[in-house]
Amino acid sequence: MSPLQKKFLDLKKEKKAVVLAHNYQPKEIQEVADYVGDSLGLSYEAQKADGDCILFCGVHFMAETAKIVNPGKKVLMPDLEAGCSLADSCPADKLRAYLEENPGLYVVSYVNCTAAVKAQSDVICTSGNAEKIVGRVPEDREILFLPDRNLGDWVIQKTGRKMRLWDGDCYVHMEFTASSIDKIRREHPEARVVAHPECTRAVRALADEVCSTEKMVGYCKNSTARAFIVVTEEGMLHRLRREMPDRQFIAGPTDRCACGECRYMKMNTLAKAVEALESLSPELVLSREVIERARAPIERMLDWSRN
Ligand code: 13P
Ligand code: SF4
Repeated sequence: MSPLQKKFLDLKKEKKAVVLAHNYQPKEIQEVADYVGDSLGLSYEAQKADGDCILFCGVHFMAETAKIVNPGKKVLMPDLEAGCSLADSCPADKLRAYLEENPGLYVVSYVNCTAAVKAQSDVICTSGNAEKIVGRVPEDREILFLPDRNLGDWVIQKTGRKMRLWDGDCYVHMEFTASSIDKIRREHPEARVVAHPECTRAVRALADEVCSTEKMVGYCKNSTARAFIVVTEEGMLHRLRREMPDRQFIAGPTDRCACGECRYMKMNTLAKAVEALESLSPELVLSREVIERARAPIERMLDWSRN
C-alpha cells in the first residue's frame, strides 16, 4: 500500500466516510474503496450507506443518484467536473421540448443522465437491469428509451419490444469497432469476448457475452476459459485482475490504440480523493425539488429490479 493510500484510509476512518467507487476508477482508488461496483450496485450501496458522508468516486450523474437515494447524507466527489458524454447527449430542456411535442410516451432513462432528466422520467434502468425494467413497462405504453441508442438497441434485440431511441452514445464505447475487435479475437482464439452493451451492434455481435460491468465479473468467474478480451473502459481490467489473478484479461483495442479510457472517470485521482476527505469538499448539491422528482423513478427501478 502506498503512503497516500494509507493517508486516505486514516482520513476515511477519521471522517467516518463511506467510499463508493465505480469499476472504471483508477486502480489506486479501487484498492481503498469500501465498495467497487457497477451503477446498479453503487445505487444500492448509496441507499444503505451510514457513516457521516459518502465519497463517491465515479462520475457526476452517479453521485447525483447517490444523493437522491440518500438525501440526508453529504455526498462528496474527488472532482465535481467528472461528467459523462452520454449524459451530455440528452440535455433536460431538449427532452422537455420533445415530450411536449410527443405526449404520452413512457420514459425509460438509462442511469447515465442528469438528475434533471431523471426528474422527467417514469423509470430508470442500468445496463445491469435494463432488460428486466423494460419488461415491466405496461404493454400498452410506447417507450422512449434514452439517452444511449446502443443500449436501447440491445434491449430491443433481447426483449423484442419496440422503443423510440434517443440519439445519444458513449464516446468511449463508440471507439471499439468490429474490425478492431475481430483482429484481437483472431490473435487470441482461446479467449472469450465480453462487451458492454454501450458498444455498437456490430461489436456486440462479436462478443460471447454482453453485460454490465458487474456481470462481467460473474461471467468470467463462472467461465471455464482462462483468457478474456474485455471490451469496455480499461478500469474494468483492474477489478477483474484483482479478483481473478490466475486469468488473463486483454483490453479490447480501438482502431487507434489499446487505451479505452474514459477521460471523465480518470479526472478522479487518489490525491483529489484525499483532499476531498480532508476538506469535506467539493460537495454535490441538488435542489430539494429535483431530489423529490427524480427519486420516484429511481426507487421504482430499485424496487422492480429487486423483485
Ligand atoms: P455499468 O452500469 O455497467 O457500471 O456502466 C456504467 C457506465 O458508465 C458505462 O460506460
Ligand atoms: Fe459516460 Fe462513457 Fe465515461 Fe461511462 S465510459 S462515464 S458512459 S463517457
